[in-house]
Amino acid sequence: MTALTHILSERIRLGGPITVADFMTEALSHPDYGYYTTREPFGTEGDFTTAPEISQMFGELIGLWAALMWQSLGAPRRLVLAEIGPGRGTLMADLLRAAGTMPPFLAALDVWLVETSPRLMARQRQTLAGREVRWCERFEDLPEGPLLLVANELFDALPIRQFEKLGGVWHERMVGLVDDAFAFVPGPETTPDLPAEVLAAADGSIAEICPLGRALAAAMGQRLGREPGMALIIDYGHPFSAVGDTLQAVKRHRFHPPLDQPGTADLTAHVDFEALASAAIPARAWGPVPQGQFLEALGIQTRAAMLAGDAGPKVAADIAGQMRRLIDPTEMGTLFKALVLAHPALPAPAGFVS
Ligand SMILES: C[S@@+](CC[C@H](N)C(=O)[O-])C[C@H]1O[C@@H](n2cnc3c(N)ncnc32)[C@H](O)[C@@H]1O
Repeated sequence: MTALTHILSERIRLGGPITVADFMTEALSHPDYGYYTTREPFGTEGDFTTAPEISQMFGELIGLWAALMWQSLGAPRRLVLAEIGPGRGTLMADLLRAAGTMPPFLAALDVWLVETSPRLMARQRQTLAGREVRWCERFEDLPEGPLLLVANELFDALPIRQFEKLGGVWHERMVGLVDDAFAFVPGPETTPDLPAEVLAAADGSIAEICPLGRALAAAMGQRLGREPGMALIIDYGHPFSAVGDTLQAVKRHRFHPPLDQPGTADLTAHVDFEALASAAIPARAWGPVPQGQFLEALGIQTRAAMLAGDAGPKVAADIAGQMRRLIDPTEMGTLFKALVLAHPALPAPAGFVS
Protein backbone atom coordinates (compact mmCIF):
# COMPACT_ATOMS: atom_id res chain seq x y z
CA MET A 1 0.00 0.00 0.00
CA THR A 2 1.41 3.44 -0.90
CA ALA A 3 1.74 6.12 1.80
CA LEU A 4 -0.98 8.26 0.21
CA THR A 5 -3.38 5.28 -0.05
CA HIS A 6 -2.87 4.76 3.69
CA ILE A 7 -3.40 8.47 4.51
CA LEU A 8 -6.60 8.73 2.44
CA SER A 9 -7.98 5.40 3.69
CA GLU A 10 -7.53 6.53 7.30
CA ARG A 11 -9.16 9.86 6.51
CA ILE A 12 -12.20 8.12 5.01
CA ARG A 13 -12.38 5.57 7.85
CA LEU A 14 -12.45 8.37 10.41
CA GLY A 15 -14.46 11.06 8.61
CA GLY A 16 -16.50 9.23 5.98
CA PRO A 17 -16.37 9.46 2.16
CA ILE A 18 -14.63 12.45 0.53
CA THR A 19 -15.57 14.31 -2.64
CA VAL A 20 -13.94 13.43 -5.96
CA ALA A 21 -12.43 16.94 -5.89
CA ASP A 22 -10.78 16.26 -2.50
CA PHE A 23 -9.46 12.92 -3.74
CA MET A 24 -8.08 14.53 -6.90
CA THR A 25 -6.49 17.40 -4.95
CA GLU A 26 -4.66 14.99 -2.65
CA ALA A 27 -3.63 12.67 -5.49
CA LEU A 28 -2.17 15.51 -7.55
CA SER A 29 -0.92 18.00 -4.97
CA HIS A 30 -0.42 16.33 -1.55
CA PRO A 31 2.65 18.19 -0.18
CA ASP A 32 4.65 14.95 0.31
CA TYR A 33 3.09 12.28 -1.89
CA GLY A 34 1.12 14.13 -4.60
CA TYR A 35 1.73 13.30 -8.24
CA TYR A 36 3.06 16.74 -9.18
CA THR A 37 5.04 16.94 -5.92
CA THR A 38 7.00 13.76 -6.50
CA ARG A 39 7.49 13.13 -10.20
CA GLU A 40 8.62 14.30 -13.58
CA PRO A 41 5.50 13.35 -15.52
CA PHE A 42 6.34 14.61 -19.03
CA GLY A 43 7.77 12.96 -22.13
CA THR A 44 8.46 9.43 -23.28
CA GLU A 45 10.16 8.56 -19.96
CA GLY A 46 7.21 9.96 -17.97
CA ASP A 47 3.49 9.30 -18.02
CA PHE A 48 2.16 11.59 -20.75
CA THR A 49 3.32 13.97 -23.47
CA THR A 50 1.89 17.44 -24.03
CA ALA A 51 1.86 19.47 -27.26
CA PRO A 52 4.95 21.62 -26.44
CA GLU A 53 6.87 18.42 -25.64
CA ILE A 54 5.85 16.89 -28.99
CA SER A 55 7.26 19.69 -31.13
CA GLN A 56 8.94 23.08 -30.90
CA MET A 57 6.42 24.23 -33.55
CA PHE A 58 3.68 24.44 -30.93
CA GLY A 59 5.43 27.05 -28.74
CA GLU A 60 6.81 28.88 -31.77
CA LEU A 61 3.37 29.31 -33.31
CA ILE A 62 1.98 30.52 -29.99
CA GLY A 63 4.86 33.02 -30.01
CA LEU A 64 3.73 34.18 -33.43
CA TRP A 65 0.13 34.40 -32.17
CA ALA A 66 1.28 36.47 -29.18
CA ALA A 67 3.22 38.85 -31.44
CA LEU A 68 0.13 39.35 -33.63
CA MET A 69 -2.02 39.98 -30.56
CA TRP A 70 0.54 42.47 -29.20
CA GLN A 71 0.09 44.37 -32.47
CA SER A 72 -3.69 44.15 -32.17
CA LEU A 73 -3.38 45.65 -28.65
CA GLY A 74 -1.62 48.64 -30.26
CA ALA A 75 1.95 47.38 -29.69
CA PRO A 76 2.17 48.61 -26.04
CA ARG A 77 5.69 49.42 -24.82
CA ARG A 78 5.22 46.99 -21.95
CA LEU A 79 3.19 43.78 -22.09
CA VAL A 80 2.76 41.22 -19.32
CA LEU A 81 3.21 37.85 -21.02
CA ALA A 82 2.29 35.08 -18.62
CA GLU A 83 1.88 31.33 -18.75
CA ILE A 84 -0.09 29.44 -16.12
CA GLY A 85 0.90 25.82 -15.44
CA PRO A 86 4.07 25.87 -17.57
CA GLY A 87 5.18 22.25 -16.88
CA ARG A 88 8.83 22.00 -17.89
CA GLY A 89 8.87 25.52 -19.36
CA THR A 90 9.26 24.20 -22.91
CA LEU A 91 6.40 26.21 -24.45
CA MET A 92 7.75 29.47 -23.00
CA ALA A 93 11.31 28.67 -24.17
CA ASP A 94 10.08 28.04 -27.74
CA LEU A 95 7.79 31.09 -27.62
CA LEU A 96 10.63 33.40 -26.52
CA ARG A 97 13.02 32.01 -29.14
CA ALA A 98 10.40 32.73 -31.83
CA ALA A 99 9.83 36.19 -30.32
CA GLY A 100 13.55 36.84 -30.85
CA THR A 101 12.82 37.20 -34.56
CA MET A 102 10.58 40.22 -33.70
CA PRO A 103 12.87 42.41 -31.52
CA PRO A 104 10.35 45.21 -30.68
CA PHE A 105 7.89 42.57 -29.44
CA LEU A 106 10.55 40.77 -27.39
CA ALA A 107 11.70 44.07 -25.90
CA ALA A 108 8.15 44.86 -24.69
CA LEU A 109 7.75 41.61 -22.76
CA ASP A 110 7.55 41.35 -18.98
CA VAL A 111 7.52 37.54 -18.72
CA TRP A 112 5.84 35.70 -15.83
CA LEU A 113 5.20 32.05 -15.02
CA VAL A 114 2.38 31.10 -12.64
CA GLU A 115 3.16 27.75 -11.02
CA THR A 116 2.08 26.02 -7.80
CA SER A 117 4.56 23.11 -7.80
CA PRO A 118 7.98 24.05 -6.34
CA ARG A 119 9.46 21.04 -8.13
CA LEU A 120 8.25 22.15 -11.57
CA MET A 121 9.24 25.74 -10.80
CA ALA A 122 12.84 24.51 -10.35
CA ARG A 123 12.57 22.61 -13.65
CA GLN A 124 11.30 25.76 -15.41
CA ARG A 125 14.27 27.74 -14.01
CA GLN A 126 16.61 25.24 -15.69
CA THR A 127 14.81 25.34 -19.05
CA LEU A 128 14.65 29.15 -19.04
CA ALA A 129 18.14 29.82 -17.64
CA GLY A 130 19.48 33.07 -19.11
CA ARG A 131 15.98 34.47 -19.77
CA GLU A 132 14.47 37.30 -17.77
CA VAL A 133 11.47 35.53 -16.26
CA ARG A 134 9.66 35.90 -12.94
CA TRP A 135 7.45 33.50 -11.02
CA CYS A 136 4.33 33.78 -8.89
CA GLU A 137 1.89 31.23 -7.49
CA ARG A 138 -1.45 32.84 -8.32
CA PHE A 139 -2.94 34.50 -11.37
CA GLU A 140 -4.06 37.37 -9.09
CA ASP A 141 -0.39 38.13 -8.28
CA LEU A 142 0.49 39.10 -11.87
CA PRO A 143 1.35 42.79 -12.32
CA GLU A 144 -1.23 45.14 -13.83
CA GLY A 145 -1.13 46.30 -17.44
CA PRO A 146 -1.85 44.90 -20.91
CA LEU A 147 -1.79 41.12 -20.62
CA LEU A 148 -1.34 38.08 -22.84
CA LEU A 149 -1.85 34.84 -21.00
CA VAL A 150 -1.32 31.25 -22.13
CA ALA A 151 -2.56 28.09 -20.42
CA ASN A 152 -1.91 24.76 -22.12
CA GLU A 153 -3.28 21.65 -20.42
CA LEU A 154 -3.77 23.47 -17.12
CA PHE A 155 -7.55 23.32 -16.71
CA ASP A 156 -7.74 19.53 -17.25
CA ALA A 157 -5.47 19.11 -14.21
CA LEU A 158 -7.72 21.08 -11.83
CA PRO A 159 -9.90 19.00 -9.47
CA ILE A 160 -13.50 18.29 -10.47
CA ARG A 161 -16.60 17.49 -8.44
CA GLN A 162 -18.77 14.71 -9.83
CA PHE A 163 -22.52 14.20 -9.47
CA GLU A 164 -24.73 11.21 -10.22
CA LYS A 165 -28.46 11.24 -10.93
CA LEU A 166 -30.21 8.55 -8.90
CA GLY A 167 -34.00 8.14 -8.69
CA GLY A 168 -34.47 11.47 -10.49
CA VAL A 169 -32.30 13.35 -7.96
CA TRP A 170 -28.70 14.57 -8.31
CA HIS A 171 -26.22 13.43 -5.63
CA GLU A 172 -22.59 14.36 -5.08
CA ARG A 173 -20.41 11.39 -6.14
CA MET A 174 -17.98 10.56 -3.34
CA VAL A 175 -14.98 8.32 -2.82
CA GLY A 176 -15.45 5.86 0.03
CA LEU A 177 -14.07 2.49 1.08
CA VAL A 178 -15.67 -0.79 0.01
CA ASP A 179 -13.86 -3.93 1.22
CA ASP A 180 -10.86 -1.71 2.10
CA ALA A 181 -10.54 -0.43 -1.49
CA PHE A 182 -11.43 3.04 -2.77
CA ALA A 183 -14.80 3.04 -4.55
CA PHE A 184 -17.31 5.60 -5.79
CA VAL A 185 -20.29 5.90 -3.45
CA PRO A 186 -23.33 8.21 -3.58
CA GLY A 187 -23.18 11.28 -1.36
CA PRO A 188 -25.68 13.93 -0.27
CA GLU A 189 -28.39 15.27 -2.56
CA THR A 190 -27.28 18.45 -4.32
CA THR A 191 -27.99 20.15 -7.64
CA PRO A 192 -24.86 21.01 -9.64
CA ASP A 193 -24.62 24.47 -11.16
CA LEU A 194 -25.17 23.35 -14.79
CA PRO A 195 -27.64 24.29 -17.55
CA ALA A 196 -31.20 22.92 -17.21
CA GLU A 197 -30.85 20.68 -20.27
CA VAL A 198 -27.84 18.97 -18.67
CA LEU A 199 -29.68 18.54 -15.36
CA ALA A 200 -32.58 16.93 -17.25
CA ALA A 201 -30.36 13.95 -18.22
CA ALA A 202 -31.49 10.37 -17.58
CA ASP A 203 -31.00 8.49 -14.33
CA GLY A 204 -27.50 7.07 -13.97
CA SER A 205 -25.92 10.08 -15.70
CA ILE A 206 -22.71 11.57 -14.30
CA ALA A 207 -22.14 15.33 -14.43
CA GLU A 208 -19.01 17.30 -13.53
CA ILE A 209 -18.03 20.79 -12.52
CA CYS A 210 -14.56 22.20 -11.94
CA PRO A 211 -14.89 24.86 -9.20
CA LEU A 212 -11.23 25.91 -9.33
CA GLY A 213 -11.33 26.17 -13.14
CA ARG A 214 -14.44 28.34 -13.00
CA ALA A 215 -12.91 30.54 -10.29
CA LEU A 216 -9.73 30.98 -12.35
CA ALA A 217 -11.74 31.80 -15.51
CA ALA A 218 -13.79 34.29 -13.46
CA ALA A 219 -10.60 35.99 -12.20
CA MET A 220 -9.30 36.18 -15.78
CA GLY A 221 -12.64 37.54 -16.99
CA GLN A 222 -12.69 40.26 -14.33
CA ARG A 223 -9.23 41.42 -15.28
CA LEU A 224 -9.79 41.20 -19.05
CA GLY A 225 -13.05 43.10 -18.66
CA ARG A 226 -11.19 46.05 -17.19
CA GLU A 227 -7.76 45.91 -18.87
CA PRO A 228 -6.69 45.21 -22.44
CA GLY A 229 -5.53 41.67 -23.06
CA MET A 230 -6.34 38.09 -23.94
CA ALA A 231 -6.02 34.62 -22.46
CA LEU A 232 -5.37 31.67 -24.78
CA ILE A 233 -6.59 28.44 -23.21
CA ILE A 234 -5.75 25.17 -24.96
CA ASP A 235 -6.96 21.90 -23.55
CA TYR A 236 -8.97 18.81 -24.30
CA GLY A 237 -12.65 18.85 -23.63
CA HIS A 238 -16.14 19.58 -24.92
CA PRO A 239 -17.42 22.87 -26.39
CA PHE A 240 -20.75 22.69 -24.52
CA SER A 241 -21.67 21.51 -21.02
CA ALA A 242 -22.81 17.88 -21.16
CA VAL A 243 -23.11 14.79 -18.99
CA GLY A 244 -20.39 12.11 -18.95
CA ASP A 245 -17.75 10.64 -16.65
CA THR A 246 -14.45 12.02 -17.96
CA LEU A 247 -12.22 11.47 -14.91
CA GLN A 248 -9.20 9.56 -16.13
CA ALA A 249 -5.81 8.47 -14.87
CA VAL A 250 -2.76 7.91 -17.07
CA LYS A 251 0.44 6.14 -16.04
CA ARG A 252 3.31 5.38 -18.42
CA HIS A 253 1.17 6.46 -21.40
CA ARG A 254 -1.62 3.98 -20.55
CA PHE A 255 -4.98 4.40 -18.87
CA HIS A 256 -4.98 3.44 -15.20
CA PRO A 257 -7.98 2.96 -12.81
CA PRO A 258 -8.51 6.52 -11.43
CA LEU A 259 -8.87 5.46 -7.77
CA ASP A 260 -5.93 3.02 -7.81
CA GLN A 261 -2.74 4.05 -5.97
CA PRO A 262 -3.42 7.80 -5.84
CA GLY A 263 -0.34 9.93 -6.41
CA THR A 264 1.28 7.47 -8.81
CA ALA A 265 -0.72 8.41 -11.96
CA ASP A 266 -1.82 11.66 -13.58
CA LEU A 267 -5.50 12.42 -12.94
CA THR A 268 -7.39 14.70 -15.32
CA ALA A 269 -10.89 15.47 -16.58
CA HIS A 270 -12.20 16.97 -19.80
CA VAL A 271 -12.62 20.74 -19.79
CA ASP A 272 -16.14 22.19 -20.09
CA PHE A 273 -15.35 25.19 -22.33
CA GLU A 274 -18.91 26.55 -22.10
CA ALA A 275 -18.60 26.74 -18.31
CA LEU A 276 -15.24 28.56 -18.58
CA ALA A 277 -16.62 31.06 -21.10
CA SER A 278 -19.70 31.77 -18.92
CA ALA A 279 -17.60 32.18 -15.78
CA ALA A 280 -15.33 34.68 -17.59
CA ILE A 281 -18.07 37.25 -18.42
CA PRO A 282 -17.56 40.27 -18.85
CA ALA A 283 -14.58 39.10 -20.98
CA ARG A 284 -15.64 38.03 -24.46
CA ALA A 285 -15.08 34.38 -25.40
CA TRP A 286 -13.85 33.39 -28.87
CA GLY A 287 -14.18 29.74 -29.92
CA PRO A 288 -13.37 27.13 -28.88
CA VAL A 289 -11.90 26.09 -32.23
CA PRO A 290 -10.23 22.71 -32.80
CA GLN A 291 -6.47 22.78 -32.10
CA GLY A 292 -5.73 21.50 -35.63
CA GLN A 293 -7.68 24.38 -37.19
CA PHE A 294 -5.96 26.91 -34.89
CA LEU A 295 -2.44 25.68 -35.67
CA GLU A 296 -3.15 25.47 -39.40
CA ALA A 297 -4.45 29.04 -39.39
CA LEU A 298 -1.15 30.10 -37.78
CA GLY A 299 0.82 28.33 -40.54
CA ILE A 300 2.02 25.04 -39.04
CA GLN A 301 2.32 23.51 -42.52
CA THR A 302 4.71 26.28 -43.62
CA ARG A 303 6.70 26.08 -40.39
CA ALA A 304 7.02 22.28 -40.73
CA ALA A 305 8.24 22.66 -44.33
CA MET A 306 10.82 25.28 -43.22
CA LEU A 307 12.11 23.04 -40.42
CA ALA A 308 12.28 20.03 -42.73
CA GLY A 309 14.15 22.25 -45.23
CA ASP A 310 17.38 20.56 -46.19
CA ALA A 311 17.16 18.02 -43.38
CA GLY A 312 17.48 14.38 -44.30
CA PRO A 313 14.45 12.14 -44.87
CA LYS A 314 14.49 10.80 -41.28
CA VAL A 315 14.23 14.29 -39.72
CA ALA A 316 11.64 15.38 -42.30
CA ALA A 317 9.53 12.31 -41.49
CA ASP A 318 9.84 13.04 -37.75
CA ILE A 319 8.65 16.63 -38.26
CA ALA A 320 5.74 15.47 -40.42
CA GLY A 321 4.82 12.93 -37.73
CA GLN A 322 4.92 15.58 -34.99
CA MET A 323 2.71 17.90 -37.03
CA ARG A 324 0.27 15.07 -37.63
CA ARG A 325 0.02 14.38 -33.89
CA LEU A 326 -0.78 18.02 -33.24
CA ILE A 327 -3.35 18.61 -35.99
CA ASP A 328 -4.83 15.31 -37.18
CA PRO A 329 -8.49 14.85 -36.13
CA THR A 330 -7.70 11.27 -35.03
CA GLU A 331 -4.90 12.53 -32.76
CA MET A 332 -4.92 15.90 -30.91
CA GLY A 333 -6.42 17.99 -33.73
CA THR A 334 -10.08 17.87 -32.70
CA LEU A 335 -10.28 16.71 -29.08
CA PHE A 336 -7.95 19.55 -28.10
CA LYS A 337 -9.43 23.01 -28.53
CA ALA A 338 -8.37 26.63 -28.26
CA LEU A 339 -10.50 29.21 -26.45
CA VAL A 340 -9.65 32.90 -26.16
CA LEU A 341 -11.00 35.16 -23.42
CA ALA A 342 -10.52 38.77 -24.46
CA HIS A 343 -11.28 42.33 -23.56
CA PRO A 344 -14.71 42.88 -25.18
CA ALA A 345 -13.56 45.76 -27.42
CA LEU A 346 -10.81 43.76 -29.16
CA PRO A 347 -11.22 42.35 -32.69
CA ALA A 348 -11.17 38.61 -33.47
CA PRO A 349 -7.89 37.04 -32.32
CA ALA A 350 -5.65 35.37 -34.95
CA GLY A 351 -6.98 31.88 -35.68
CA PHE A 352 -10.58 32.79 -34.75
CA VAL A 353 -13.30 34.28 -36.92
CA SER A 354 -15.96 36.76 -35.83
C1 LIG B 1 -0.44 18.87 -17.33
S1 LIG B 1 0.72 20.05 -16.80
C2 LIG B 1 0.84 21.02 -18.28
C3 LIG B 1 2.20 21.57 -18.48
C4 LIG B 1 2.47 22.43 -19.68
N1 LIG B 1 1.53 23.50 -19.84
C5 LIG B 1 2.57 21.62 -20.94
O1 LIG B 1 1.74 21.79 -21.81
O2 LIG B 1 3.50 20.82 -21.04
C6 LIG B 1 -0.13 21.08 -15.65
C7 LIG B 1 0.70 22.18 -15.07
O3 LIG B 1 -0.14 23.04 -14.28
C8 LIG B 1 0.46 23.27 -13.00
N2 LIG B 1 -0.64 23.62 -12.09
C9 LIG B 1 -1.57 22.81 -11.56
N3 LIG B 1 -2.46 23.51 -10.82
C10 LIG B 1 -2.10 24.81 -10.92
C11 LIG B 1 -2.63 26.06 -10.42
N4 LIG B 1 -3.72 26.07 -9.65
N5 LIG B 1 -2.00 27.20 -10.75
C12 LIG B 1 -0.90 27.18 -11.54
N6 LIG B 1 -0.35 26.04 -12.03
C13 LIG B 1 -0.94 24.88 -11.73
C14 LIG B 1 1.20 21.98 -12.76
O4 LIG B 1 2.15 22.07 -11.74
C15 LIG B 1 1.83 21.78 -14.15
O5 LIG B 1 2.91 22.66 -14.37
